[in-house]
Amino acid sequence: MIEILGLSGSLRAESFNSALLRAATELAPSGARIEHASIRDIPLYDGDVERDGIPKSVLALKERVVASDALLIATPEYNNSIPGVAKNVIDWLSRPVSDIARVFGGRVVGVIGASPSSRGTALAQIAWLPVLRVLGTRPWFGMPFYLPNAGKAFAGDGRLVEESDRERLRKYVAGFVEYAALMRGAS
Ligand code: FNR
Repeated sequence: MIEILGLSGSLRAESFNSALLRAATELAPSGARIEHASIRDIPLYDGDVERDGIPKSVLALKERVVASDALLIATPEYNNSIPGVAKNVIDWLSRPVSDIARVFGGRVVGVIGASPSSRGTALAQIAWLPVLRVLGTRPWFGMPFYLPNAGKAFAGDGRLVEESDRERLRKYVAGFVEYAALMRGAS
């Protein structure tokens, strides 16, 4: 079983990105499981707090990342970049520096995203690249997945409506899982 940890970079109850992650979970191939991690309990990064001890919520999330084969980030886009809420989580997970290799080194990471705009998080996804690089991850670049016009893409119950969107997402997750399986064999 390929274990994927899904992180939505939004706290909003009706978040398009959380809905996208749920759709990815629904469309994942058999042999893969996507678990969703809440970021609600992750505090704002503060070096003084870190000096006194990394918060339990951060330590717990780090161990969930370590236990996974791959991390799937569903990122919103704010001002053409990564929302602070989402970046804050990764910043905490990267502390202390001596633990980066264990948590992120060689970790397969995929980035998808949904937004009401016509570009569907293309710029936010690009903004993640230096972060994924400095942490030594193995990003999957097999195909991009952007979901534009997200306001129309989901039904009231949060279901991804269009079969073409569902098919693209299914293809993305299948390729991502295949890569994660390959990398598990390689490491
Ligand atoms: C946005 N939004 C936005 N959308 C986009 O495609 N490009 C952008 O640059 C921005 N900028 C931006 C800045 C700020 C401060 C906010 C609050 C919003 C709109 C954004 O995509 C929209 O709020 C989504 O609904 C956020 O994702 P979730 O919460 O639905 O997952």
